[in-house]
Amino acid sequence: LYGKVRRNSLGINLNDPTSLERLMAELGRAMEKQRQALPLVSGEVGRGTVQVVRDPSDQRRVLGTVVEADQEAIAEALSEADAVAAGWEATSVLGRAECLEQAADLFEERQVELMALCIREGGKTVADSLAEVREAVDACRYYAAEARRLFAMPKMLPGPTGEHNELTLHGRGVFACISPWNFPLAIFTGQVAAALVAGNAVIAKPAGQTPLIAALVVQWFHEAGIPPRVLHFLPGRGSMVGQALVADYRISGVAFTGSTKTATVINQVLAERKGPIVPLIAETGGQNAMIVDSSALPEQVVMDVMMSAFNSAGQRCSALRVLFLQEEVAEPILEMLIGAMQELHLGEPGRLDTDIGPLIDEEARARLETHCQRMDREARLLCRLSLPEATQHGCYFAPRVYELENLAELTYEVFGPILHVIRYSSKHLKEVIDSINRTGYGLTLGIHSRVDETVRYIQNRVHVGNIYVNRNMIGAVVGVQPFGGERLSGTGPKAGGPHYLLRFATERSTSINT
Ligand code: SER
Repeated sequence: LYGKVRRNSLGINLNDPTSLERLMAELGRAMEKQRQALPLVSGEVGRGTVQVVRDPSDQRRVLGTVVEADQEAIAEALSEADAVAAGWEATSVLGRAECLEQAADLFEERQVELMALCIREGGKTVADSLAEVREAVDACRYYAAEARRLFAMPKMLPGPTGEHNELTLHGRGVFACISPWNFPLAIFTGQVAAALVAGNAVIAKPAGQTPLIAALVVQWFHEAGIPPRVLHFLPGRGSMVGQALVADYRISGVAFTGSTKTATVINQVLAERKGPIVPLIAETGGQNAMIVDSSALPEQVVMDVMMSAFNSAGQRCSALRVLFLQEEVAEPILEMLIGAMQELHLGEPGRLDTDIGPLIDEEARARLETHCQRMDREARLLCRLSLPEATQHGCYFAPRVYELENLAELTYEVFGPILHVIRYSSKHLKEVIDSINRTGYGLTLGIHSRVDETVRYIQNRVHVGNIYVNRNMIGAVVGVQPFGGERLSGTGPKAGGPHYLLRFATERSTSINT
């Protein structure tokens, strides 16, 4: 009943020269391959508009093509998924869990293919790409184990003599899984795996920027035993594919990770459409802060700030955006931080010595440019790195640090390698916390303090989903740091946590008078 003992993905030891050499040779070959992402409806290839997919680190490089699903493919996927959902729900959860475990093994065996696409299509560094594979593998194994724990046996409830009462969990029907480009492998896989193992048919729509990696994942899920009529794949634009899916009465739930603005639109469409009232599992952005007091260890603060603000070019929803420094320690910490920034290496993400790769596309760069024009007028520029010449054909953005007077000046999420610093006096810690809460977002928060009372004071007042104390604030591990925020940052369910699968299911209570 409980299957294999779950283990987290082993990854690759990058410190071992032999494994590293082999990895880099295999990666080099895999990064050369041309790929295709086609709509897959019941395993059949759908039609649509063909688009070229380019490498964000060098836009001259074509990685392959994507066929964006047309209305016919969308209609077909909805009707097929709807037709098989009840049958899939009636299968044994043990079989569904085994499919996920099989998929995890395939992902691990073929991790270099996945890493190559994370690097090329997602612009991720080698280390980030390996972390993505590990998160995807962990998600499959964790949700398989969780499904066995939660779904396999009915929960027996007390009742009067002669009455048998039980509570069982069931798939809701057809789930639309709409995923982002910043974790094109891990979040795509996590959403789909959770929805499937809970007994739902799935229509998966990847982000417009990263369809190639998602197409590979869907093929391998099918190879692992998920019936092609149960898992459909519709690459395309959100305004077309996403909109059409969400508006359809046959969709019984939506798992969405992306911008707060899009989550709000989905919420509205779901509210206004005809048909059942269905759940939205939304994980969106944040205005994530870190509070550093004078008891913190400065070297550790600098290391953790660097990691939290600049890793993945700041393109994580968990990333640090606003650093609150207690005024007594602000100068030395800023001096060390700016020194550490000079050591950052921007460049081709497939090289081992690269710390920061490109942004995902030109639109992302334009948004950051607009923000920096405003900051250049209204804030104090503390540091701006320059871009090496080798980055000229990619969507690169030079990391920078600005100092602001207060958080009220920052009303929107800035998704990239830009850190904002605000000095505070210890007398005003409460005001700092209030200002973080007033942003309306509530995703991650970092605290650097060696005073337990201060940590608890902040922890009990701040409205966020994930708090990290005396460490960096990114890279939540499945089953270890369940991840997800509240308020403008999402509807609350924690991916990689013990309650996540419940959000994909409906509960049925049965009372039998024996
Ligand atoms: N789960 C990611 C992290 O923790 C963000 O999406 O960094």
